[in-house]
Amino acid sequence: MCGIVAYIGHKQAKPILLEGLKRLEYRGYDSAGLAVINKEIHVARTEGRVRVLEEMLAQCGGFDGTIGIAHTRWATHGKPSERNAHPHRDDPTNGHGIALIHNGIIENYVALKTYLQERGHTFSSETDTEVLAHLIGELYDGDLEAAVQAALRQVTGAYAIAVICQKEPEVLIVARKGSPLMVGVGKDEYIVASDSSAIVAHTTQAFTLEDYTVARLTRDSLRTTTIDNVPITPQIRELEFDLDQIELGTYEHYMLKEICEQPQALRLCLRGRINAREGQVVLGGIAQYARELVKAKRIIFVGQGTAMHAALVAEYLMEDLAKIPTEVEFASEFRYRNPILEDGSVVIAISQSGETADTLAALQEGKQRGALTLGLVNVVGSSVARETDAGIYLRVGPEIGVASTKAFLGQLMVATMLAMFIGRRRFLSVDYVAGLLAELEAIPDHVQRVLGLSEQIHAVSKRYANRENWLFLGRGHNYPVALEGALKLKEISYIHAEGMSAAEMKHGPIALIDDGMPVVVVATRNSQYEKIITNIQEVRSRGGHVIAVATEGDDDIANHCEEVFYVPDVPEPLQPMLTVVPLQLLAYHAAVIRGKDVDKPRNLAKSVTVE
Ligand code: M6R
Repeated sequence: MCGIVAYIGHKQAKPILLEGLKRLEYRGYDSAGLAVINKEIHVARTEGRVRVLEEMLAQCGGFDGTIGIAHTRWATHGKPSERNAHPHRDDPTNGHGIALIHNGIIENYVALKTYLQERGHTFSSETDTEVLAHLIGELYDGDLEAAVQAALRQVTGAYAIAVICQKEPEVLIVARKGSPLMVGVGKDEYIVASDSSAIVAHTTQAFTLEDYTVARLTRDSLRTTTIDNVPITPQIRELEFDLDQIELGTYEHYMLKEICEQPQALRLCLRGRINAREGQVVLGGIAQYARELVKAKRIIFVGQGTAMHAALVAEYLMEDLAKIPTEVEFASEFRYRNPILEDGSVVIAISQSGETADTLAALQEGKQRGALTLGLVNVVGSSVARETDAGIYLRVGPEIGVASTKAFLGQLMVATMLAMFIGRRRFLSVDYVAGLLAELEAIPDHVQRVLGLSEQIHAVSKRYANRENWLFLGRGHNYPVALEGALKLKEISYIHAEGMSAAEMKHGPIALIDDGMPVVVVATRNSQYEKIITNIQEVRSRGGHVIAVATEGDDDIANHCEEVFYVPDVPEPLQPMLTVVPLQLLAYHAAVIRGKDVDKPRNLAKSVTVE
């Protein structure tokens, strides 16, 4: 995920672009860059935050001008560095003075790069974006709009781009497929951005660029066409402004904000990565290791806390869908127990921050022992992301609340895609994958529906928030969800909670159950449904109060419990992404009712950087 902003009008572009970048910085902050036309193209790029770019620009002249583009990067192809920062140029010495910013992934960039290299192009970055800049330069024949259209007809993947050219200093070209792009329409000015937060300060009239659409903007004209040059009419509307992701806005706590953001976070996580119709999962970050992954003999997931719970779900997914023997370990244990890693072992670290010391150390151990290492990480450019051979970013946006919520869902989503990516190359039929992907695509909407339970969950939390001991039970794919539900409750409300396999309860923990003890049971319709109903009976016959998470339409379960939260019916491997949401809300409401500091729980830090 990157943030892009572009301006053409009668005002100075630089301050507008910098302000826009700050608004969009939540979309990525490993490098920032800006280009304006002032007779010729002036480009400034830096590794790091927008603040660094701003300081840099404050010390140099030449950036006056009323047309420009700017970018804040969340790295995909090529590490965070100045040379991989956008804008990218067509060819600084032999080109046409073209500069381009891009959000998305050009999937066929390797083939295009080879073609362009054969035609004498030399590249200075590791990015897919630079290939597109050169391709436009290669096709340029005095008409920037035509060159962009022609180039986009040759690329596959996702893009939101903005392009300027020194030879046409009165023209800004923008285009989109798969990545968001909005055009704000002012008086003799246009401001284009990844989202409305960078636009609303200037105008509330805007339109969203449709997929495969190109807009040619001058100060006083606007023309939109398909990439095949068929004219289309944009639907300009009044902007309903979305709050900036890193601002609390109207929410009382970041945790609640992030729980509520989950549907959108999952959409971003999925964007450009699945094609349900063709049964395809596209994971650019690991594509070059696809063969090794398909041949893997053993996968070991490592992580801590919530990330470790995501790893436990991933174990089920990997064995179910990819049919590769999989293990999960606390990174801290793996690191120190002299693990045996044979040929064909793959170590996959899961981490929101990418900075957890235990996870980093486990990864280094795996690397030293010759394993292929991958990272499922949220924070771009973090240590785990840098030290792994390859990885998949969660793309759920910055997570500020100490209690991890949307990152967990992102981890589950990415693990599911990874298992399908490998599974499709091993045993899964295209029809099976297509069907499951269609279900996966619907998950964000289902999560949205589950969020509608918040009031009911609040009422239930109120009834039980004074109880100091809780149990959380689940089986199969939902066993890790029980662990996660208990962790959420204990870390922010300081209630003692234990999560476990429902089957394990009768081997000891059942002794804890006394009259009215809240026992949360994930009891959705799946292969272990009958067994979990039996476990519920065992709890109730000892006086425990059962709070169930069940499948919509399962009216019978209400006869077996005190409270039920219903979630939509989805295939078993996808259930954890729904069943965990009521447990997040339960923990949140219980903590607020108990008067705890939800976003800054005692003794905890967002990122644990000591072993
Ligand atoms: O940044 P990471 O995902 O590596 O962090 C791992 C754990 O420290 C983290 O999940 C922690 O357990 C959270 N506070 C859970 O809500």
